[in-house]
Amino acid sequence: MGIQMNVERFANIRTPFYYYDTDILRQTLDAICAETKKHDNYFIHYAVKANANLKVLQVINEAGLGIDCVSGGEIEQVLKAGFPANKIVFAGVGKSDWEIELGIDENIFCFNVESIPELEVINEIAARKDKMATVCFRINPNVGAHTHANITTGLAENKFGIAMEDMEKVIRLAQGMKNIQFKGLHFHIGSQILEMDDFIALAHRINELQDRLEKQGIQLEIINVGGGLGVDYEHPQENPIPNFKDYFAIYEKYLKLRPRQTVHFELGRAIVAQCGALITKVNYVKEASVKKFVITDAGFTDLIRPALYDAHHRIINLSSSEPEETYDVVGPICESSDVFEKDTRLPKTRRGDMLALLSAGAYGEIMASSYNCRKLPEGYTSEDLQ
Ligand code: LLP
Repeated sequence: MGIQMNVERFANIRTPFYYYDTDILRQTLDAICAETKKHDNYFIHYAVKANANLKVLQVINEAGLGIDCVSGGEIEQVLKAGFPANKIVFAGVGKSDWEIELGIDENIFCFNVESIPELEVINEIAARKDKMATVCFRINPNVGAHTHANITTGLAENKFGIAMEDMEKVIRLAQGMKNIQFKGLHFHIGSQILEMDDFIALAHRINELQDRLEKQGIQLEIINVGGGLGVDYEHPQENPIPNFKDYFAIYEKYLKLRPRQTVHFELGRAIVAQCGALITKVNYVKEASVKKFVITDAGFTDLIRPALYDAHHRIINLSSSEPEETYDVVGPICESSDVFEKDTRLPKTRRGDMLALLSAGAYGEIMASSYNCRKLPEGYTSEDLQ
């Protein structure tokens, strides 16, 4: 794997930092494009919230994907990376006026609208600019997903989207607005979903809703099924490319489309997780009475997923191949949740060793913070280090 091959080049870079293997990223994009090119009505919008590193974005743009943004800052970043504005979908429960203005000024493809007050503001701003805003409604489908509670989004109790029972009322309202063009529906049930049955349940729910709307003479042009496809955090090196074949096959088999409808996907994690690793140096190995601690120079400010979601990232020692011992791998931050992994087996580890936390390309660098006045980690691609 690229990481091991590049370890000598890591020596002169300030740790911790993110390393992105562009070969893996390109192979992942090729695997997606191989599936979607079977359907001329499928469009992928990369969910930039997963990773907004400019170089990573440029590789994704080269593959021709569209973009899913959730803030004005993300819109600015993807425009900088060269994505065309007419491939941007813009979601989020709390869009600020300046963000809506930016979307309208740039003529983005579509706003995914999550409430009536938001719809009214978009109509008002579009009217002021004498423009039309294209909208889809995010519907909360009340479909559960088998994933961590903090990353399910499609249940009635979650804050996202418009309730199914309000759907017709909201569509009628939009159809009566002068500066709004209503195009379709948007869904997203959660993230890191590996149970394909969850996507089947979503497809069935969309079919029901379409039948219901059709009876009332409401046609949809756009069906946006969101993202959520999970990755293999346990075996990232053996299984780096997610199962796109099965994922798209589900929508092909279960989603009942009408003529001229387009299906839009918002995949984030599945595209970028496996190409990225957090590289960190061991500052100390501390032997306490019951435990041995490996204390790294990376902490939860660099990768918060273990602390926030109990997430597991495989850790490898890039510097040692001695017999394994058991360690708790922890960061330097003054909080007891700053633990990457407890009781993990690693080759005998010493001060100065370089560790890699794998599958960190999604929701890693982008979620970094400067708590404790720590420096934000830099991100490098394998191409930067050649
Ligand atoms: N579309 C919408 C409306 C979303 O809310 C999300 C993710 C996505 C697409 C992309 O989902 P993906 O394909 O990446 O699963 N920070 C958490 C994940 C939060 C996901 C939020 N929404 C983590 O580190 O696991």
